[in-house]
Amino acid sequence: MDDKSDIILSVRQIGKIYNGRRILDNVSFDICRGEVFVIMGGSGCGKSTMLRIMAGGVAPDSGQILFNGQDMSAVKGEEREKMRRRFGMSFQSAALLDYLTVEENVSLPIKEHTKLDPHIISIMAQTKLNLVGLQGFEKFMPNELSGGMRKRAGLARAIAMDPQIVFYDEPTAGLDPVVCAVVDRLILDLTRKLQITSIVVTHNMESVFRIADRVAMLYQGRLLEAGTAEEIKNTSNPIVQQFIRGDIEGPIQIA
Ligand SMILES: Nc1ncnc2c1ncn2[C@@H]1O[C@H](COP(=O)(O)OP(=O)(O)O)[C@@H](O)[C@H]1O
Ligand SMILES: [Mg+2]
Repeated sequence: MDDKSDIILSVRQIGKIYNGRRILDNVSFDICRGEVFVIMGGSGCGKSTMLRIMAGGVAPDSGQILFNGQDMSAVKGEEREKMRRRFGMSFQSAALLDYLTVEENVSLPIKEHTKLDPHIISIMAQTKLNLVGLQGFEKFMPNELSGGMRKRAGLARAIAMDPQIVFYDEPTAGLDPVVCAVVDRLILDLTRKLQITSIVVTHNMESVFRIADRVAMLYQGRLLEAGTAEEIKNTSNPIVQQFIRGDIEGPIQIA
C-alpha cells in the first residue's frame, strides 16, 4: 500500500468556501487502488462536498485532486468527460428514474456514453443486474421494488460503465439494519470482484467497521485523522472516540 503507483486518487490540500464560509480547510489524503475508503464525520462537516470535489463535479477553491497521478483540473473538454466516465456515482440525488424500467435505468449511462447496439447495451445492463442480485427484475418499474432492491439497482447503474472508482454518498441512509448489512456486503463484493476502488461517505458506525479498509474523519472541514479501520477504532483522539461511540459528553461541539 505504500507504493506510490498504488495510489489511485490523491487529495492535496483541498480548500472550499461557500458564501464566505470555509467548508473544507487544507484536506489531504491518498486513496489506494482496490480499497474501500470511508469518509466519516458529523452532519455538515463537508463530507458530501469533499466527495463531489473528488468526483470532479465541484471545483475546489484551492488544492488539487490527482487521479492516477494526473491533476484533474488540468484536464478539460472531452478528455475530462472521458476521465469522469472512469467514475461511478451512487449519490443520494442520483435516484432511479421512475418512468423507466430497472434495465432501462441501468442502460442509461451506457446509451449516453457509447454508440453500442441496443441489444449489446441490454446484455451489459443485465450483466450488472446479475452482479447485484437483481436478475429477473429487468422489466420491473422502480416503484415495484423494495427500498433495498432500488439501492441495488442504483449500484448496478453506478457500475454500468465499468468504473475504476465508485463514489457512494450515504449508501445506507434510511435503510433498516438488515438491508443496511446487505448493501454493505454488496459494496464489499463489488469492490473485490470487479477490483474497483470504493469511496464511501457515511456516518453509520456499523457500516464503517464492516466495510472500511481505511477511514478518514472530517471534523469542521478539516481532516482530523486517517488510518486503517483498526487504527481508527483504537485511536486515542477523543473527538474520534466520541464520534464512534456516539457519546453525548465529550469534546465535540454540538451546533
Ligand atoms: N452548493 C452549496 N452552496 C452553499 N453551501 C453549501 C453547498 N453545498 C454544501 N454547502 C454547505 O457546506 C456545508 C457542508 O455541507 P456538506 O458537504 O453537504 O456536509 P455533509 O455531507 O458532511 O453533511 C454545509 O454547511 C452546507 O450547508
Ligand atoms: Mg452529506
